[in-house]
Amino acid sequence: MLSTLAIANYRSLRELIVPLGPLNVITGPNGSGKSNLYRALRLLALTARGGVIPSLAREGGLQSTLWAGPERFSRAVAKGEYAVQGTVRKDAVSLKLGFSGETFGYAIDLGLPMPGSSYFSLDPVIKRECIWGGPVLRPSALLVDRQGPMIRIRDEDAGRGEWTTLAQPVASFDSMMTEFADPRSAPEMIAVREQIRSWRFYDHFRTDEHAPARQVQIGTHSPVLADDGANLAAALQTIREIGDGAALDTAIGDAFPGARVEIVNHEGRFEVALRQEGLLRSLRGAELSDGTLRYLLLAAALLSPRPPALLVLDEPETSLHPDLLPSLARLIARASAHSQVLVVSHAARLVAALEREAGSQSIVLERRLGATALADEDALDVPAWKWPSR
Ligand SMILES: Nc1ncnc2c1ncn2[C@@H]1O[C@H](COP(=O)(O)OP(=O)(O)O)[C@@H](O)[C@H]1O
Ligand SMILES: [Mg+2]
Repeated sequence: MLSTLAIANYRSLRELIVPLGPLNVITGPNGSGKSNLYRALRLLALTARGGVIPSLAREGGLQSTLWAGPERFSRAVAKGEYAVQGTVRKDAVSLKLGFSGETFGYAIDLGLPMPGSSYFSLDPVIKRECIWGGPVLRPSALLVDRQGPMIRIRDEDAGRGEWTTLAQPVASFDSMMTEFADPRSAPEMIAVREQIRSWRFYDHFRTDEHAPARQVQIGTHSPVLADDGANLAAALQTIREIGDGAALDTAIGDAFPGARVEIVNHEGRFEVALRQEGLLRSLRGAELSDGTLRYLLLAAALLSPRPPALLVLDEPETSLHPDLLPSLARLIARASAHSQVLVVSHAARLVAALEREAGSQSIVLERRLGATALADEDALDVPAWKWPSR
């Protein structure tokens, strides 16, 4: 389980350290940085899949995703006596993402290449990446350490303090996590990588008439719901066959009394349908209301027979009728027994229901001088965090 999430210089997250528990409910006014937090976490997950640089490029490049405010606030500005003014940049550009739990921590530091060194001058460069043992980075706890193109690994056989430097340098755009995969010399790297690769993110499922979830799709075993919900029918059938089918029926009956999900099998191509009280035939994917379809998508995501280490949802309440929110809260609470969960939400009823669950923690964000901050820092017990230097 993650106990700390740390982000520096990503959009409005100038320097944010968030303590995490088993079930985290993130709220705050519009524009306070909730989705930025979601995106930062997704970016972190992409490092272990080799997608962090292309994803930053799609977001408009490092220059656009980087914190747009000043590097430092003078005391007068913080007290509101002067307006924020641009100054000449003193420090190197540095977007940093990291997390830690009881056993391991990981951090990555992205910057810009030397001017004129390459055509890809807008492509960020990975300057430093570290894996360490324990919740806070200490030099003696470092296990794997990348500095520029060089990776060194603490050599257990040779005794403490001894390092093995890998002969093969890594490219500036490749994470050490995708480039290096020898389980014998760095088991902790494999452990961290596999943990991150299991993380799952869901935001704003499409429910328009052409939404993938409404279509008839090839039915293959789907223990994991796709990001776009395309395999919804197969995922629901997989829950029926190898997962908790009873919980699925309860979740649907809970939300739509008397209703039951049906998977229509068109010779191996599956379509989702809902049998409802009072209707002579079941309603097919194309006929379901946006809210109903979205609820089915969330149920499929939350009842996955292969739960991820971390499940992150951005505003799952979108287009759901408020009456469905208590059922959704029950599904989320149930998922938090198997996965660590982070939910970004605006819906007061959902938030209130989740906050009543054991192990839940609410994190309220606000903006101060443009930067995202924890609204109630004192109540949250913010953990210690240390970034690796360049
Ligand atoms: N590069 C940046 N530097 C500073 N602030 C940014 C940057 N990019 C976006 N923002 C700010 O982040 C805010 C959006 O945050 P977001 O996470 O989408 O809010 P919400 O809490 O509503 O989900 C906007 O107010 C925007 O001004
Ligand atoms: Mg948002």
